[in-house]
Amino acid sequence: LSPGKEKHLWAGVPLLKYIGEMVEPIQSFQAWPDDLLISTYPKSGTTWVAEIMEMIYQDGNLEKCQRAPTYERVPILELKWPGLSTGMDILKETPAPRLIRTHLQLALLPQSFLDQKVKVIYVARNAKDVAVSYYNFYKMAKGHPEPGTWDNFLEKFMDGQVSFGSWYQHVQKWGELDGPINLLYLFYEDLKENRKREIRKILEFLGRSLSEEMVDHIVQHTSFKEMKKNPMANYTTIPIEIMDQNISPFMRKGIVGDWKSVFTVAQNEHFDAHYAKKMAGCKLKFRWQ
Ligand code: PPS
Repeated sequence: LSPGKEKHLWAGVPLLKYIGEMVEPIQSFQAWPDDLLISTYPKSGTTWVAEIMEMIYQDGNLEKCQRAPTYERVPILELKWPGLSTGMDILKETPAPRLIRTHLQLALLPQSFLDQKVKVIYVARNAKDVAVSYYNFYKMAKGHPEPGTWDNFLEKFMDGQVSFGSWYQHVQKWGELDGPINLLYLFYEDLKENRKREIRKILEFLGRSLSEEMVDHIVQHTSFKEMKKNPMANYTTIPIEIMDQNISPFMRKGIVGDWKSVFTVAQNEHFDAHYAKKMAGCKLKFRWQ
């Protein structure tokens, strides 16, 4: 995997080499009007919302939702792991209506998604918990370079020098798309607070309705506890050479506020001052308590 660890710059966005190699071919990807795109900065609840969406699309049928691993049921546009089908390959075999996910910055999104006015669900998570989750992911997902010390990684994260680039840019630019296309902006913290309410929001956005019992069934199946033990959701089907879950499980903690056990007081003050500058004028309100 070592060649995959070099960094690529694409339109100013740092990407791991193997992802950078995918960005050019996917620029000509043909989106369909009935696609549904789940867009996130990494570690923001992608897998969680992908599972919720699958449950909705499969009318809550658990057997169907366990027919294949999460990354095959809801393909990742830019995915390329050694020895596994690429996201683009999987998409070629995926019948409509497709659920697709991406971590790409808005500037790197293939134009056809915009032309086809594809509906987008954007999921954002507070930057402090994202940074902590991403640090652990860098250690276990072997396509990444060694993250170094936490202090070092945090600086890189703040500087946007991590794979997929700046969190600040990602959450803000995607938010601006609401209007030109139909976009639902969700927060990880809201999903933690009240998953049922957020699932209802999604249903309204999709123009679908489900019975109360079915919504409860989806709520139950998409808890952290259930997803952690579900091999079709927890990435344990990925070879250890790609993700070593002994180092850190993919379903790690699934909480709001884990940053408090990692950030020092000095790191937190430094982060807050930087955050205030980067987010000045931004209307999005993130909660990290
Ligand atoms: S990735 O690799 O970018 O696709 O990761 P992503 O799925 O976006 O984010 C992984 C984090 O989401 C947590 N997670 C959940 N939290 C609560 N409930 C459920 N059901 C759930 N499923 C996944 C997962 O544990 C990662 O967060 P951390 O903080 O590392 O635990």
